[in-house]
Amino acid sequence: MATKEKFYLTTPIYYTNGLPHIGHTYTTVVADVIRRYKRMRGYEVVMTTGTDEHGVNVERAANKAGIPESEFVARMAVEWNNLWNELGLTADEFIRTTDLQHVRTVQWLFKLCKENGYVYKGHYTGQYCIYDNAFVNDAKPGDNCPDCGRPTETVTEENYFFKLSAFQKPLLDFYRKNPNFIQPETRKNEIVSFVEGGLKDLSITRTTIRWGIPVPGEEPHVFYVWFDALTAYLSAVGGPEYERRGMWPADLHLVGKDIIRFHAVYWPAFLMAAMLPVPKQVWAHGWFLMDSGKMSKSKGNVVLPRPIANMLGMDALRYFLLREVVFGQDGNFSYDALVTRYNSDLANGLGNLASRTAAMIEKNFTGKMPKPSARQPQDEVLAREAQSAIGEVLERYENMEFARALEAIWGVIAAADKYLSSEQPWALGDSETDTQRKAAVLWTTAELLRIVTVLAHPVLPDSTVKVWSLLGQPASVSGVELDGLRWGQLAAGVQLGKAQALFPRVDKAEAIERIEAMANEEQNPQAAPATAAAAAASTASSGAAASPAPAEKITIEDFAKVEMRVGQILTAERIVGADKLLKLNVDIGTEKRQICAGIAQYYEPEALVGRKVAVVTNLAPRKLRGVESNGMIIAASVGPEGRPVLAGFLEDVEIGARLK
Ligand code: MSP
Repeated sequence: MATKEKFYLTTPIYYTNGLPHIGHTYTTVVADVIRRYKRMRGYEVVMTTGTDEHGVNVERAANKAGIPESEFVARMAVEWNNLWNELGLTADEFIRTTDLQHVRTVQWLFKLCKENGYVYKGHYTGQYCIYDNAFVNDAKPGDNCPDCGRPTETVTEENYFFKLSAFQKPLLDFYRKNPNFIQPETRKNEIVSFVEGGLKDLSITRTTIRWGIPVPGEEPHVFYVWFDALTAYLSAVGGPEYERRGMWPADLHLVGKDIIRFHAVYWPAFLMAAMLPVPKQVWAHGWFLMDSGKMSKSKGNVVLPRPIANMLGMDALRYFLLREVVFGQDGNFSYDALVTRYNSDLANGLGNLASRTAAMIEKNFTGKMPKPSARQPQDEVLAREAQSAIGEVLERYENMEFARALEAIWGVIAAADKYLSSEQPWALGDSETDTQRKAAVLWTTAELLRIVTVLAHPVLPDSTVKVWSLLGQPASVSGVELDGLRWGQLAAGVQLGKAQALFPRVDKAEAIERIEAMANEEQNPQAAPATAAAAAASTASSGAAASPAPAEKITIEDFAKVEMRVGQILTAERIVGADKLLKLNVDIGTEKRQICAGIAQYYEPEALVGRKVAVVTNLAPRKLRGVESNGMIIAASVGPEGRPVLAGFLEDVEIGARLK
């Protein structure tokens, strides 16, 4: 048996001073799509990801959390790893830069560079922030520290330098000989002109940072984070023993445009200096922006993947990320666009085609795939369309044109919808001719669905498995060889599988509301409702958002932090576009508060006016469906649906009285 060709691809290793958001998820999703696609084309694929655990930022984050760095990064690595697993994005290797194997590889790479004459000891002079204990890159004397605003000082420290300047010509030659090394083209031009502009030697060790990989025999030198981080790609597949694993050099480094220089200039230079094979390609994608700006925790506009996956399924998020934006360019993220695409392309498109085709086969042929005997020219037209889409989609995937690949697949789905509308198999009768025609139409549609399912599998790994079993197909869809995929392979006579919900249609406003509520809870666990009842009353959400917090015991001091008062509802009104929410104006004695409560399906607004309720008054304000909510109304959660029942008082109580 011929051995498979290998394909090694990587995501960046992510900083552990924060948690994954949609931007990180994007890179990892793309890597996973490529991995699945390449496997279906017969490659032996390894995909790696991991965590970048050294450096000043991590040191600071650990100090802030009041725990040792090693403990902090261990916790964070678990968080990242767990989230990837939960999202179905488990890599083949997860590398942590604190792993011994990695430490060994960094030290080995340094030794090779040094032995080959590309490392020397020198002095690095730069602007240093004494408060933050860090050099401030690109700062000039007199500049303030961008992190803390304090003046920087000019400091000189002894460092090891890497002779990057010696690699200007080798790198330019390399780019010329390997024109696809940097993609897309615009990034390549950027890098080429940067290198043509001249390269300065690079300081690759630090003595001012403690939390790093030690340079053997040269303590207190530790490696500069990027020398450390880039090497993770090599340590993930064997480190010094990389030849044994047979995966190095990497076939593809997937990165965001922000870190292209490190990957396309420094990394190949380090490897050339060590006389190690250089990766084959670095692909830099664009950024997902929020309201055309960068996502940041301080702006409060960070989009989290988990709430979306919980609400719409991970396939929906994968589809959106790849379909919405041309790979390589920046794009805007919006929940509105996400849910619109979900409903139109997934629920009404693929989901609807699959369920109605299966339902018609069930009804007319007792769930057995019919034989297509009475074919007509229009069947052949559809067949040709699907057949030619196979070639186009494979080419698009190959060129990383994911949006175009999906567009082509969905073009075929639309053609099938049109075909069904004009053939109207449901309008045919039970005569032999009609039954034969029905058989041909339904087989043709099912065959098209089979092809679509295979082609979409790398992007929609969960739902295509469901369609596959619905079509009664043997083995797994992931095992289908893309290169052998042809029109006409669908066997008649197979029994269809059980119908399963694929992409249930959602109400846009309600879906967004739930996603936002879940995101709110994940980002502000301290402000999260403590009980299912509270969640139901405050956020209008149910399901995951309303699940009770773990029943940990709290102290009386913890309880005392929650301020609850008697309030009286002064006005209550519905919120347009949020059918579960009511906007209340509540008098809490000292002031009047606007509070949103998820009780609209159970309480008429008019009936609430004048009612006295229990209010959590010191909850951080937040926005629900764009409406500010400043407090929370307490309610019991009743029955499996969590029907909210407002807490009240049997005796008359003064407005503003504290609940204890
Ligand atoms: N630790 C370095 C990488 C070292 S690789 C040897 C790092 N980490 S990071 O946590 O900041 O994540 C970087 C990557 O996350 C980006 O290059 C990009 O792949 C992804 N993204 C982070 N935010 C993003 C968006 N808003 N949009 C798209 N991707 C972005 O840099």
